[in-house]
Amino acid sequence: MGYGNFDNLNLQKEAPIILGIESSCDETAAAVICGRKILSDEIASSASTQALFGGVVPEIASRAHTEAVAAVVERAVKNAGISFAEIDAVAVTYGAGLLGALLVGVSFAKAFAYALNKPLIAVNHIRGHIAAAYLDEPSLKPPFVTLLASGGHTAILHASSEADFRILGATLDDAAGEAFDKVARVLGLKYPGGPNIQRLAKEGKTVIPMPKMLKGGGEYNFSYSGLKTAVINYCHTMEQKGLAYNKADVAASFQCAAIDVLVEKTVAAAKETKVNTVTVGGGVAANDYLRESLSAACAAEGLKLVLPEKRYCTDNAAMIASEGLVQYRLGNFADLSLNAKASIPLSATWKTGGEK
Ligand code: KG4
Ligand code: ZN
Repeated sequence: MGYGNFDNLNLQKEAPIILGIESSCDETAAAVICGRKILSDEIASSASTQALFGGVVPEIASRAHTEAVAAVVERAVKNAGISFAEIDAVAVTYGAGLLGALLVGVSFAKAFAYALNKPLIAVNHIRGHIAAAYLDEPSLKPPFVTLLASGGHTAILHASSEADFRILGATLDDAAGEAFDKVARVLGLKYPGGPNIQRLAKEGKTVIPMPKMLKGGGEYNFSYSGLKTAVINYCHTMEQKGLAYNKADVAASFQCAAIDVLVEKTVAAAKETKVNTVTVGGGVAANDYLRESLSAACAAEGLKLVLPEKRYCTDNAAMIASEGLVQYRLGNFADLSLNAKASIPLSATWKTGGEK
């Protein structure tokens, strides 16, 4: 279902203006970029409502997106100081995420692009997390190694170009962020768990023994389910025996075990693939301990580290616009048959005619 003719667009235009829209989880976000410069970046979150339920309730997320999306987009365009007519393309997350939540952003973006007669770009949320690094460091050029650690994915990737990457290793079970959230729950901390574990860990010591994480040369996979179960069992056993335990020490010991393996393997992957640069993406990359250890490890190995600001590690729309720019350069536009997808392959893209 085409609606405009975009065959003669100048795809190599110096600094296209891209509107990004993100609604895959509990953040309704819209941002405008001009080339790799962020002009505006707006977020409305339903996290405080979700916290009352101990996690994201999909129905509540969808309703909150529906209420917020028009105003958030309007604010992003207004704060960018541009008119609707100046937008070169509308990029929207089509997957992966909560289906009902994604549908709000996708439907809005389709209507918006159609009404303005602008190209529509379907963005893979994970590719968005990787593309956040281009906004932090506009001169960034592949090849580089990326550590991606979010609530749904944990992987180490090698990017050979802006659009092409190879998975060097990934989690065999839970994602790192998921482990943070589950451990937080057991410790009685509110959703989202990651930032709360980090806060508590600062008051604790790494004195509680944790199971060994998957290690070993040339092996970049991870497993978080054993670590998560060990922490849960420790807390439950202590409670059953009526013994007191220090929650801050549990948080610190867990955080250290969960993060050290990411840092170690990312640096090893960068060395093995002989790249000079490491980037990070995803909510867990907002963790202070990860940021400090990875900075130190990269400095020790002479690797340049691109560490996007924390707000561009967690879900945001500027990263969706940034990946939108990559797809714009390739002319990969979607039509009005675009649909949201709850689950897509880590490296999926939407090329003209469907998902690849
Ligand atoms: O990338 P993201 O915002 O959403 C997904 O695409 O999943 O990542 C969310 C995840 C959650 O599991 C959250 O607990 C974790 O990132 N997270 C953190 C921190 N901030 C967010 N984990 C550890 N430390 C943090 N400071
Ligand atoms: Zn995300």
